[in-house]
Amino acid sequence: MSAKQEQYRRKAVGWSDLEYADGATYLDHRADLVVRLGPPLRAGDEVLDLACGDGGLGAFLVRRGLRYRGVDVTPEMVAEARRRLGDEAVVEVGDIDTYVPPGPVAATTVFRAIYYARDRRTFFSRVAGFTTGKLVFDLNPRQYDVDGVLADLRAAGLDRTELRPFFVPQRISLPRPAGAALRGLERSGPIARLLLRRRFTLLVAAWRSDARDVG
Ligand SMILES: C[S@@+](CC[C@H](N)C(=O)[O-])C[C@H]1O[C@@H](n2cnc3c(N)ncnc32)[C@H](O)[C@@H]1O
Repeated sequence: MSAKQEQYRRKAVGWSDLEYADGATYLDHRADLVVRLGPPLRAGDEVLDLACGDGGLGAFLVRRGLRYRGVDVTPEMVAEARRRLGDEAVVEVGDIDTYVPPGPVAATTVFRAIYYARDRRTFFSRVAGFTTGKLVFDLNPRQYDVDGVLADLRAAGLDRTELRPFFVPQRISLPRPAGAALRGLERSGPIARLLLRRRFTLLVAAWRSDARDVG
């Protein structure tokens, strides 16, 4: 087992509470963008959350009327997600490189874990095969070549994309008005691009132009 895997095993209990200074704001905003970025989701749609960790995102999707299926390779994370979500969701042990859901899903999400895919292009193709609506994931534009990622998506048949800065800090909790103002900058164009040079991530929604209308 790698040091990283061992770290995830040890950190599973309370993962979301420890990783996110203001988990409610962070995960609620993430859930909002999972629904709205790209073709919108509607109540009853199923979201497959690959590398779901402790399923922290799940409750925020379920409360929007979505069905949630979480998958993670770390059994301790899966146990924690099941404990958090109870019978509101399905959570399974699985690897992002091999997991296939029992039926097509409206959306597949991968947060803070896209880099675990062995081969990104192959991963995008597999996901496109069982996702009727869209793939949503986050990306650090200072670490990854965004154009290269977009080329991999197109090669996998995911030819439509919408990108959106995600301006909720992970490690610090802001007073409510400051947090709202910062989120307001996500659509500010040049200011958002400047901020992204120093901090924060991008959310990417990708879908086939002939995908079913999920909204
Ligand atoms: C940084 S955490 C992100 C967890 C959650 N998505 C979040 O945003 O809080 C990365 C997660 O990826 C999982 N993971 C790592 N490699 C994986 C793989 N090959 N397949 C599935 N999950 C994996 C880890 O167990 C861990 O829960």
